[in-house]
Amino acid sequence: MGIASCLALPWKCLVVVALRLLFLVPAGVPARSGDSYLKDNITVRQGDSAVLKCNVDSKVSRVAWLNRTTILFTGNEKWSLDPRVVLLNNTAVTEYSIKILDVNLHDEGPYVCSILTNKKPESTRVHLIVQVPARIVNISTDVAVNEGSNVSLMCLAIGRPEPNIIWKYRSARGRRFVSEGEYVEMTAITREQSGSYECISSNDISPPDVRTVQVTVNYPPVISRARSSGTPVGQRGVLQCEALAVPLADFQWYKEDRRLFNGLNGVKIENKGKQSMLIFFNVSEEDYGNYTCVAMNMLGISNASIILYVKFMHHLKCDSCLVLLRLILLTCISSDCLEPLS
Ligand SMILES: *[C@@H]1O[C@H](CO)[C@@H](O)[C@H](O)[C@H]1NC(C)=O
Ligand SMILES: *[C@@H]1O[C@H](CO)[C@@H](O)[C@H](O)[C@H]1NC(C)=O
Ligand SMILES: *[C@@H]1O[C@H](CO)[C@@H](O)[C@H](O)[C@H]1NC(C)=O
Ligand SMILES: *[C@@H]1O[C@H](CO)[C@@H](O)[C@H](O)[C@H]1NC(C)=O
Ligand SMILES: *[C@@H]1O[C@H](CO)[C@@H](O)[C@H](O)[C@H]1NC(C)=O
Ligand SMILES: *[C@@H]1O[C@H](CO)[C@@H](O)[C@H](O)[C@H]1NC(C)=O
Ligand SMILES: *[C@@H]1O[C@H](CO)[C@@H](O)[C@H](O)[C@H]1NC(C)=O
Ligand SMILES: *[C@@H]1O[C@H](CO)[C@@H](O)[C@H](O)[C@H]1NC(C)=O
Repeated sequence: MGIASCLALPWKCLVVVALRLLFLVPAGVPARSGDSYLKDNITVRQGDSAVLKCNVDSKVSRVAWLNRTTILFTGNEKWSLDPRVVLLNNTAVTEYSIKILDVNLHDEGPYVCSILTNKKPESTRVHLIVQVPARIVNISTDVAVNEGSNVSLMCLAIGRPEPNIIWKYRSARGRRFVSEGEYVEMTAITREQSGSYECISSNDISPPDVRTVQVTVNYPPVISRARSSGTPVGQRGVLQCEALAVPLADFQWYKEDRRLFNGLNGVKIENKGKQSMLIFFNVSEEDYGNYTCVAMNMLGISNASIILYVKFMHHLKCDSCLVLLRLILLTCISSDCLEPLS
């Protein structure tokens, strides 16, 4: 209620002053001189509408609704400039209710329905409580750390009532982990602890707000498979090497001290994810020997020996050889294919 409006409508000011003196000093405290009821609290979700009900008897001379010390309505007259506040079509003479549309957090607080009868003033006080769904407002970004580091994850949420926050983790190996609170602290993190960490924030107002943080744990290569291979001369040969590492390992191949390169000396090197293959297009005698697969990333290096060894072709059994030879000879003799020696 500004001075300007007082000058324009002096009677309004009188009503204001009268109301304030009667009921609202200090604000929100029920009138001392009259009856006062505290109705149940009204709970609404942010964005919804709130109906504030007030029952009056027919002999009432003046009624008003106040938000703390601010007059919203006196009688049918709207004082509030807020378009969200409307007087309901109070069909019954004894009803004097208002509605607040699109309720926000600032609307929370005491509202007073003041009733001036001829005899004594009364007021009905309601407490508007605004609920806000839990929402995560700040969460750690995805992290990549080296094994052994300390990691702290943070998840901050707002809402009313105060949201409950839990962290959930489920690894590929089925390991589970649940922790309560905004922070998760992991000291000396291991490779098994890498994965998705889920922050779940809830306050039962709406479905929980869930967000995840990806934790990547770097570790040096560990060669998990290095299989020697027997291959006959003249055939395609393959040596396989596999290394677990984060980030994925780079591979190098050696024969004794000599490094092998892709496309040179009749070999091809094929790397795919955690696996590397040394492929011989056509194995020759000189290819047999002791090879070394070296896997490395920024955290370390590891190697393994792999042997390419001789494997003989599957020969026909000698019994069958003789039978075959005899058959050819017999066929030849009968068909005169062998020229008689002169
Ligand atoms: C109403 O809300 C106030 C403030 O939040 C609280 O102190 C009071 O206990 C509540 N009363 C009822 C009846 O829920
Ligand atoms: C009250 O009723 C009138 C006419 O019946 C209607 O135009 C108006 O929107 C109603 N107001 C509310 C707040 O329901
Ligand atoms: C109630 O008063 C508070 C504090 O002055 C204000 O922020 C809010 O907008 C008011 N709400 C209504 C519905 O008048
Ligand atoms: C989130 O929290 C971090 C650490 O407290 C802070 O540095 C950052 O500015 C916050 N981000 C936002 C969007 O509030
Ligand atoms: C990790 O935390 C432990 C225990 O709090 C501490 O002793 C250690 O120094 C920390 N390590 C690093 C790298 O900060
Ligand atoms: C493999 O090498 C041998 C000897 O050099 C040759 O005779 C043979 O034709 C080659 N095989 C293929 C499939 O290239
Ligand atoms: C292959 O070489 C490595 C060292 O380079 C050695 O330790 C290993 O015993 C060798 N393997 C064979 C079968 O000779
Ligand atoms: C393989 O590793 C051993 C020790 O782990 C090292 O002495 C050797 O030089 C390595 N070989 C190659 C080819 O990197």
